[in-house]
Amino acid sequence: MKDSMEKIISLCKRRGFVYPSSEIYGGFAAVYDFGPYGVELKKNIEQAWWKNMVQNHENIVGLDSAIFMSPKVWEASGHVSGFSDPLAECKKCHARSRVDHLLEEVGVFADEKMSEDEINKIFEKNKDKVKCPSCGAKNFTEARNFNLLVKSNLGNFTGDWDKEPTYLRGETCQGIYVNFKNVLDSSRVKVPFGIAQVGKAFRNEITARQFIFRTREFEQMEMQYFVKEKEATKEYNRWKKERWDFYVHNLGINEKKLRWHEHENLVFYAKEAWDIEYEFPFGFKEVEGIHNRSDYDLTQHSKHSGCDLSYTDPKTNEKFIPWVVETSAGLSRSLFVVLCDAYTEEKVGEEERVVLKLKNELAPVKIAVFPLLKNKPELVKIAKEIFDNLKTKWVCEFDDNGNVGKRYRRQDEIGTPYCITVDFDTVEKDDSVTVRDRDSMEQERIKIKDLEKYFEEKL
Ligand code: GAP
Repeated sequence: MKDSMEKIISLCKRRGFVYPSSEIYGGFAAVYDFGPYGVELKKNIEQAWWKNMVQNHENIVGLDSAIFMSPKVWEASGHVSGFSDPLAECKKCHARSRVDHLLEEVGVFADEKMSEDEINKIFEKNKDKVKCPSCGAKNFTEARNFNLLVKSNLGNFTGDWDKEPTYLRGETCQGIYVNFKNVLDSSRVKVPFGIAQVGKAFRNEITARQFIFRTREFEQMEMQYFVKEKEATKEYNRWKKERWDFYVHNLGINEKKLRWHEHENLVFYAKEAWDIEYEFPFGFKEVEGIHNRSDYDLTQHSKHSGCDLSYTDPKTNEKFIPWVVETSAGLSRSLFVVLCDAYTEEKVGEEERVVLKLKNELAPVKIAVFPLLKNKPELVKIAKEIFDNLKTKWVCEFDDNGNVGKRYRRQDEIGTPYCITVDFDTVEKDDSVTVRDRDSMEQERIKIKDLEKYFEEKL
């Protein structure tokens, strides 16, 4: 299993999906950059989510709030006092680890949101079993909660900024709550309605393992659905189904590798919380959380800002603070799921091929166009013309490097669904080209003039 993780990481680097940040300086822990194919794949996943959540729902609108917000937002939300991970230090090698993760390794469940006392009781009970992942010793300090918010000096020129820091947002949804009234006043939404956004979030994660699964800078795709209290459970169950279906139908994920996980220890304001988990090479882990957050968020921001965030029903005149059903997915984590799920090794005759069996909609490149030989101007000319025509409709790539077999392997590894080859028959006989299908590897001759129609049907 470890092996398949290494293979995926290696493919990501080799083919330009994901690079370690600042690599020429030795890297920068838990931060990654997305290369030419990674950025296309990420945009396609984001677009699938946006279409599914915003454009396909007439009562969900989009938002793009800033990464920086008033520090008061993070006090009101409870992040300044309570957004933390329980950490313990190995007394032998001084490596720090997340206690909830150490316990999970030995089959003991402890939610990261437990208080220090609660988690230390469980930790103490199991300390004979828990080993340091770095040196194997079984000798830890007590667990202490470390705040995950990342601080900055934005707008503070005192030189003493640490005392009154501004924060890089730890989750995107707070930007939605603080704009609740703006959206209500400036658009025609009525409860029930949703506000969705995609954007960066930052967390001082201590465990920087498992590639892009858990990073310190990442992107979230969050939607907050505002409802009446009595509708919350019904809407919650509806959203659970919609979100599950998104992974299966829109991202093409193998349903057998997905499962539900219910949170046992809820934060005091949450009424229900379930995660969609995917079976990564290192086991089942969270991809998305679906939360019934009650009226906590809008109530907190009403209290702390002094601005009334209640809603008045235009029909009944009933005034209330809406409840929130949240769907919260990681974009970079979804990309990792898509890569793990699409990664396939197959025997082709005596050889082995690696192929990313991505859904057509997600593939970074849809069509690759090859002249059979790069030193034959008559073939290159036609291939270029086909490329120039198709690229106005789909993301295409022109490739004349190496032999055609090698070009197929390269396109298979980046998940390109179709490759077109212009050969001598194209010029001399039939005005047709060979179109090769990524998954079946079957080839068919298609007239150049019919290519556009052919791909309109296929893609
Ligand atoms: N607003 C609710 C919220 O932020 P969360 O469970 O902390 O809930 C939601 O995060 C999703 O964001 C997770 O399911 C995961 O996909 C993604 N996520 C959270 N922390 C992450 C990290 N450090 N790196 C990558 N993705 C992360």
